[in-house]
Amino acid sequence: MARASVVGAGMTKFGVHDTPLTELFGEAAFGALDDAGVEPPEVDSLYFGNAMGGQTENDTHLAPTVASHVGMAGIPAQRYEDACATSANAFNNAVEAVESGRHDVVLAGGVERCTPETGLDTAAMTRIFASASHRQYEQPTGITFPGVFALFVKRHMYEHGTTEEHLAHVAVKNHANGTRNPKAHFGKEVTVEEAMEGPVVADPFRLMDCCPFSDGASAVVVVSEEYADSFEAPVDVSGVGHATGVVPIGDKETPHVTQAARDAANEAYGQAGISAEDVDFAEVHDCFTGAEVLASEALGLVPDGEGGFAAAEGRTAVGGEIPINASGGLKAKGHPISATGTGQIVELTEQLRGDAGEHQLPAPGTGVAHNLGGDAATTVVSVMEARA
Ligand code: COA
Repeated sequence: MARASVVGAGMTKFGVHDTPLTELFGEAAFGALDDAGVEPPEVDSLYFGNAMGGQTENDTHLAPTVASHVGMAGIPAQRYEDACATSANAFNNAVEAVESGRHDVVLAGGVERCTPETGLDTAAMTRIFASASHRQYEQPTGITFPGVFALFVKRHMYEHGTTEEHLAHVAVKNHANGTRNPKAHFGKEVTVEEAMEGPVVADPFRLMDCCPFSDGASAVVVVSEEYADSFEAPVDVSGVGHATGVVPIGDKETPHVTQAARDAANEAYGQAGISAEDVDFAEVHDCFTGAEVLASEALGLVPDGEGGFAAAEGRTAVGGEIPINASGGLKAKGHPISATGTGQIVELTEQLRGDAGEHQLPAPGTGVAHNLGGDAATTVVSVMEARA
């Protein structure tokens, strides 16, 4: 029994765009509606994500604006903000809305612009991103997100023997995957040597360990399971788990364990009636290479402590035991904050329909998406399944 189904998926290329937020979201929204064969007046509600438009472009109260732009003025439209997990949480709420019977057809998605096209450089954007960390205990120290995840991963290295070379293998894998995804920000391969020689951003992360600043938008059409039967290629949402972790960082007993991801995965797997062994592929939140290592373990896709070794041995590559981030992930596909969560749902939908193009995996049946926000403080895990 699915909780909901996705019947349409659309996204812009992730990268650099000079388009205003509303128009950029419109491109993804119209793509999803066209894909579903749904006209704007048929949509009951908009679940929309944008985290930073107020800080980056003085653009707030966007939900009714984008609803009007895509021909849906009049319907309820609400904005979600959960840092980098913004649109996964919009999706989570869209699933609940159709499951509860409140709505039949919901458009869920998100948009963000983070590149210098906004007029803001790396330093300014880094400061805005840091507003998602603890106001009293973290921001005054000057820590930024590369530093936050560096702390988590340093602990993982200490506990499990993960190395900088392991991390480089994650970058090599995801950059290679990105070359087969025309929607990816980067389409360039890197070598282990290049990754390991790059400039240090926050020890142990070098340039190639970091996701870039990206612009982009993504959207999906979510319908009730019964309603889905009238569509050509529905993909079922069998579980969505949502959990929060301890904040601030200093209060996390085991920061490298990312407990919120484990809690969200347990909830999602429980709803779907599956275990990690049933998962055929995953899109995980690799904002930094080490974050993919932590996520692969938290989702149960590799045993604890083996995430780095698994990447280096090719176990998480396309063609390996459990392909992770076949799209290129945040590392190469890009990370336009509020577009990332539903961007992962677009990827799962296309893979499970068999129309992911050059990076299509061989006939996957079950996919998992993992999207986190802040100091691994909010995590949403979604399970989607192809119809037999
Ligand atoms: N991965 C690979 N290449 C990257 C890159 C990345 N993350 N970021 C930039 N580049 C490339 C650029 O394309 C450019 O290449 P070119 O010289 O061939 O044109 C070059 O590196 C320099 O780009 P620039 O934009 O000047 O880099 P920068 O030093 O200003 O920023 C980072 C690089 C890594 C500091 C920045 O991308 C960053 O902070 N990323 C993390 C974002 C983040 O924290 N997100 C939230 C996660 S929770």
